[in-house]
Amino acid sequence: MEFYLIAILSLIALMAYFLILKPLVPLLILKLQLGDKAILMFYPISGLLGVFTKSIKNNHDVMETMNKALRKNPKAKVILSNYFTTPCILITGSEYIKDTFLDHNDFEKINPFMLPSFIQRGLLMMEGEDWKRQRKFLGSAFTFEKLKSRLPMMNKVVQSIAEKDDKKNLNDFMARITGEVVIKSFFGELAEGLQLEGKDAQIALIQLTGEIGLMQIENIYIFLKQLLFKERAWDIFPGQKEKDIVRRVENLKMKVKELIVKRIEQLRENPIQDEGKMVFLDLYVTEYLKQQKQKEQQIEIEEILHQFITLFFAGTDTTATTSGTCLYYLAKYPEIQSEILEEVQQVIGNNDVNEENLNKLNKINALIQEVFRLKNPAFVTLFRTVKQDKQVQEIKLKKGWVIVQMQNANSIQDSHFDNATEFNYKRWLNKGNVIKNDNGFIHIPFAAGPRNCIGQHMALMEAKIIIALIVRKYKILLNPAVEQIRFGVKFLQCVEPDNCLLFEKRI
Ligand code: HEM
Repeated sequence: MEFYLIAILSLIALMAYFLILKPLVPLLILKLQLGDKAILMFYPISGLLGVFTKSIKNNHDVMETMNKALRKNPKAKVILSNYFTTPCILITGSEYIKDTFLDHNDFEKINPFMLPSFIQRGLLMMEGEDWKRQRKFLGSAFTFEKLKSRLPMMNKVVQSIAEKDDKKNLNDFMARITGEVVIKSFFGELAEGLQLEGKDAQIALIQLTGEIGLMQIENIYIFLKQLLFKERAWDIFPGQKEKDIVRRVENLKMKVKELIVKRIEQLRENPIQDEGKMVFLDLYVTEYLKQQKQKEQQIEIEEILHQFITLFFAGTDTTATTSGTCLYYLAKYPEIQSEILEEVQQVIGNNDVNEENLNKLNKINALIQEVFRLKNPAFVTLFRTVKQDKQVQEIKLKKGWVIVQMQNANSIQDSHFDNATEFNYKRWLNKGNVIKNDNGFIHIPFAAGPRNCIGQHMALMEAKIIIALIVRKYKILLNPAVEQIRFGVKFLQCVEPDNCLLFEKRI
């Protein structure tokens, strides 16, 4: 009896140590050191993810709990929380954000999917020399000059999907558009009619990446398993759902590899000379074949596959939720919708959005910036681990701790924006200083520093075309059947429920 009692007490003590003391003690020491520069948000087990989910439940807004705390403590530079049993430091001060973005080599991104052979060799996750090589190679394809040749394709995709889609699910509607744009930008005509799981490729892919992302948030068993076993978690006592995901991922990889191999054979026979006519895959394959000829193979088929999944993952939901949130605000504020419609009629009339008129859509650009400021889909960056003990300003980060940059932390501070919590897109139309006390790291929706978003020009082009063409064709209304709008997460921050808007054809 006594033995069992001792065993149980030891177990409780051990759990208390791992779940509470281990993460909490260093956080308390930091809090003592930093005083009002730090806000403590420690919750055993659930940690930072729990703060997000509770905020949605209590405030209908994933960021509201943090935003309230930051507004109450404008001196705060970090939020001290936990990622299960590890201290997790949420960086909020603009100087601290700057340091961690510039010293990006000192941190390693945690794979959001924890799936082997999925995105690890793509630009988002790559590190060191391989990352530099990829960034240089892809960088030239993502300049405005190179991307503008995709404008006609983007117009066509928006128009045809708007026509076909039943528009009852805002987030799916938007993601169908942005997913198809990424697929067409990567594969061109080669992916025409591509089906996965009996569905259009972009729909199958959106569902797959969405389900994987949500599984970790919604299922504590899977979250813990992945925390402990990383990519191997999928092989350890997998449930039916996990087995199904693994099967679908293998099927996807096989189909995409087939396309890549087919293109390698096509371009081996008939190389394309004009770079302007190349989609991303052609650029890759041309370089692949050149390296093969010179016997200096750096690019492999696996890398091309990971790059496609990376660009799909990084480029689809981000742009879709930004555009969806813009449309939500147009429905919420009909007077803004009229102003935007007027701009569209004046600037593009009945034409497509093209190279000349795109940059004259100033009001649409301002609307997008305001959505980025208050409801950026990428509300925090990917979680990162600290590679070696590291000093950031006066904070000593320990090897193995987790950090996250809260890139919008300063958006809601009156010290940086007039009436910071008010939705006012017109602030971005002022020619003067919109951002007060700006060190260049205050309004950074696409992150900042060497690892900022490579797709930002593409994202802005797409979002502007989506908003312009949809507003011209449809009156956007709030769905009266929806009682409560929330800013939740489907991996990224997005407006919910999915049926929150109605689209009424303009005559
Ligand atoms: C509104 C739309 C978008 C937003 C808000 C956005 C935001 C971001 C952010 C915040 C990062 C940094 C992530 C981190 O460090 O944890 C990032 C990186 C990245 N984004 Fe985007 N993104 C958008 C659209 C796109 C598009 C359209 C593409 C490409 C098709 C893209 C491709 C990438 C890639 C490859 C990276 C990694 C860059 C590197 O590490 O060198 N993004 N994006």
